[in-house]
Amino acid sequence: MSKLSGRGQLAAERPRQDRPSTCAGDRTPLCGEANGSVPKSEIRVERVFRSILYSQSWEDPEVDRRALDIGPRDDVFTIAASGDNALAYLLDEPRSLTALDFNFSQCCLLELKMAALEKLSHGELLEFVGVSPSPGRARTYRRIRDALSGPAGEFWDAHPRLIERGVIHVGRFERYFALFRRCSLPWVHSRRTRDELLACRTLDEQRDFYRRRWDGVRWRTLFRLFFDRAVMARLGRDPAMFRYVEDDVASAVRERARHGLTEIPVASNWFLEYILRGAYETPGRRPTWLIEDNHPKLRRLLSRVTIVNDEIERFLPERAEGSFSKFSLSDIFEYMSEAASDRLFGELWRVSRDNAVLSYREMMVGRTRPAALEGKLAEDEDLGAWCHRHDRSFFYGAHHVLTAHKEPAMGHRVRSRSAVPR
Ligand SMILES: C[S@@+](CC[C@H](N)C(=O)[O-])C[C@H]1O[C@@H](n2cnc3c(N)ncnc32)[C@H](O)[C@@H]1O
Repeated sequence: MSKLSGRGQLAAERPRQDRPSTCAGDRTPLCGEANGSVPKSEIRVERVFRSILYSQSWEDPEVDRRALDIGPRDDVFTIAASGDNALAYLLDEPRSLTALDFNFSQCCLLELKMAALEKLSHGELLEFVGVSPSPGRARTYRRIRDALSGPAGEFWDAHPRLIERGVIHVGRFERYFALFRRCSLPWVHSRRTRDELLACRTLDEQRDFYRRRWDGVRWRTLFRLFFDRAVMARLGRDPAMFRYVEDDVASAVRERARHGLTEIPVASNWFLEYILRGAYETPGRRPTWLIEDNHPKLRRLLSRVTIVNDEIERFLPERAEGSFSKFSLSDIFEYMSEAASDRLFGELWRVSRDNAVLSYREMMVGRTRPAALEGKLAEDEDLGAWCHRHDRSFFYGAHHVLTAHKEPAMGHRVRSRSAVPR
């Protein structure tokens, strides 16, 4: 495998080297290089993508797993982001998994999590990443350091404070939630009230609690202030991420929070626990990749992962037709113009195998495949709606599930998977 040789700066700042390459089957999987030339992605240039933006996933991987139905013959393509969802898909034992992100630090984060899974016991893993307190994360880092590729090792050597804080807490988005929890939420709900919500055992209890104790004037005001587009753009995301957004962000997010608090059982909602407590205190309420029973299996499958530091817009055109069979695309279309999104759907179809499945979310901007691809990428609206309703991260506006039809002779025009779970 050709390893990425860099000096440890973020990709956007490094001089351009050789073309990105896919490198499979190596223990040190970070590869690809996409800097130096004019990026094809419209948003990659933004500063916000030069440090860790998400240190955890804010998309429920379990709904994507239901939609994608990954198996041993699948070659999965996923946006890397924090890496948590890539690791969750690995549990379904695909033949290969390619995790791509144009943000170099996100790629390094996934590589660090993989090194920790490989080298540490489960208790040590929880301490190292920040789920439990640790007597010294720097010492543990030295133990896993040689499982990292050169560039990722250099990145983490240069960021000891992120290691010390526990890497699941260090993203810009996680720090935004910390600000919300420390500075605003206490004005609305005490720790006791939050604990009472998290202790509800049925949806009826949750709905009753929400109506009587949660959804008051202060809660509504808080939303208007804290999840206002400008505040969110400044503190938690970036103005560029709202370039194509037209709706009232705060009202949309409040309605989605109502759904999350009243329609999704809190007992298994690790997203909600983290937002309200900044920690995973309940062992049954943890992200998939951090569940103890999953650890040995993940360790066994890590060699199937390839991490690529590149833009999807540039990486896909270099792949052969039919390279992938399952795609998890986060909400990347959100940050693109309609023209760029249309182009990308065309490439996705080209690199899809027959019956490939694509799963992606919509936060505030509606994007779907262009009309010209209607018969080639068939939308399963029922399955998408099911994913949307059951997504425990509840911030999204819609979920889309598409199936690629590559063989027109088979009369696939309107066929869809119709695999809506009961
Ligand atoms: C799309 S973001 C969204 C995360 C979360 N759903 C949210 O809305 O806050 C997830 C990851 O996609 C990466 N990303 C966005 N556009 C990309 C592109 N065109 N090519 C490669 N990675 C991209 C970002 O760097 C980020 O780590």
